[in-house]
Amino acid sequence: MSIEDITEFRGERFTRVGAHSHVKGLGLEGLKARPVGDGLVGQTTAREAAGIVVRMIKEGKMAGRAVLLAGPPGTGKTAIAYAIARELGKDVPFVAISGSEIYSSELKKTEVLTQAMRKAIGVRLRERRRVYEGEVTQLEVKTRKHPYNPYQEVPDHVIITLETKDERRTFRAGATIASYLLSQGITVGDVINIDAETGRVVRVGRSENASERYELAALDEKPVPRPSGPVEKDKEFVYVLTLHDLDQLSAKSRGGGLFSMLFGQPPSREIDPEVRREVDEMVKRRVEEGTGEIIPGVLFIDEVHLLDIEAFSFLNAAMESELAPILIFASNRGITKVRGTDIESPHGIPLDMLDRMLIISTRPYTREEIRKILEIRAEEEGVKLSEEAMEKLTEIGEKATLRYAVQLMTPSAEIAKSRNRSEVKPEDVEEAIKLFSDVKRSVEELKRYEELMMR
Ligand SMILES: Nc1ncnc2c1ncn2[C@@H]1O[C@H](COP(=O)(O)OP(=O)(O)OP(=O)(O)O)[C@@H](O)[C@H]1O
Ligand SMILES: [Mg+2]
Repeated sequence: MSIEDITEFRGERFTRVGAHSHVKGLGLEGLKARPVGDGLVGQTTAREAAGIVVRMIKEGKMAGRAVLLAGPPGTGKTAIAYAIARELGKDVPFVAISGSEIYSSELKKTEVLTQAMRKAIGVRLRERRRVYEGEVTQLEVKTRKHPYNPYQEVPDHVIITLETKDERRTFRAGATIASYLLSQGITVGDVINIDAETGRVVRVGRSENASERYELAALDEKPVPRPSGPVEKDKEFVYVLTLHDLDQLSAKSRGGGLFSMLFGQPPSREIDPEVRREVDEMVKRRVEEGTGEIIPGVLFIDEVHLLDIEAFSFLNAAMESELAPILIFASNRGITKVRGTDIESPHGIPLDMLDRMLIISTRPYTREEIRKILEIRAEEEGVKLSEEAMEKLTEIGEKATLRYAVQLMTPSAEIAKSRNRSEVKPEDVEEAIKLFSDVKRSVEELKRYEELMMR
């Protein structure tokens, strides 16, 4: 595929879970964990281990390896995974899925995993292209009658003047460029560049002089300066995409017959392995030529015990490939059956997979740590808690899980608000507990009512 197909493509970004929005990083100083830092409290051994993993990833020493975050529920495994993402920075792709997401009715398990893995590999492509760039100071589109429909006018050619600070050139361009200009609504006063080879037009923005002269700059748009130098020049473009973006673009440009012509999308969301092979080859070629760079990212699979034996063997093999992301798993299970088998294994993970993993353990929090975490969360959510309400939630964090205590915070605040108070009191928390069960209680209720429930 050629590069101009992806000029304006912006890769999708991962979204972060709200429950961990207070986590800004691992809170390290060098390799040492501060007791409280970047929104994280305690769990210092795990945080320091995670810090080393971040370094290894940045230095490219994690290839073919995986990390497992293991520990009881609510001990910050998911929080630490997001902290790792923060530490890696926004240029390193970080994709998070839960083990359960591979069971979809539309896609094969291996397809879901492949897509997730390819979203976690970034590619930076550089390309020099010959362009005509400048501010449009004259634009006349000449039309003619449509060959099959005499009532319709179609663009025939265009007379366009482009000006830089130093040069002014007038061109007569054909129908392709004319329709690019029309479809993008280019008018006099826009700064544009036209690709010399393909005729593709990219609007850079509204020119500063034009917006002063005509006063029609959109309010949300910052005017750009008129370019300097010659109109015709070589310009470097940089595109940052993921392998998955490239797969999709490539699959689209190959088309899927009439259907995709009509609806703009291939009929199935599965991507042909042949497409992927071509994308891989293109990327490797560009890396060799020095015009491409691979940015290996992280695929985080939460609740990894939900993967089954097929998924594990697929991942095991995929990790060997040159274009594989770093895998981070999290599990709160002890010894349990590997899904799809009768074999019991630690964390429900097959032994050959466990063998490749660096394991980071998280341990339960002390009362003080729980309290501190809840304070940070309360601030993050803008919830005001009375001293007694804070005590109550801390107790819940100890007896049930930290996650449950965190989750009760917003409902408690809503209840307080309905009682015309801005500060949450213990009775608001109690009300919230009545309304929302924690997992243990909900299981007990299920057992109690099992007789009555539908089967
Ligand atoms: N050390 C910590 N510092 C600050 N916040 C934390 C810490 N540990 C956990 N939290 C917060 O507490 C809540 C529960 O933690 P988290 O979801 O990370 O637990 P988990 O170990 O992934 O649990 P599970 O096994 O149930 O998935 C989250 O909102 C998380 O951001
Ligand atoms: Mg979790």
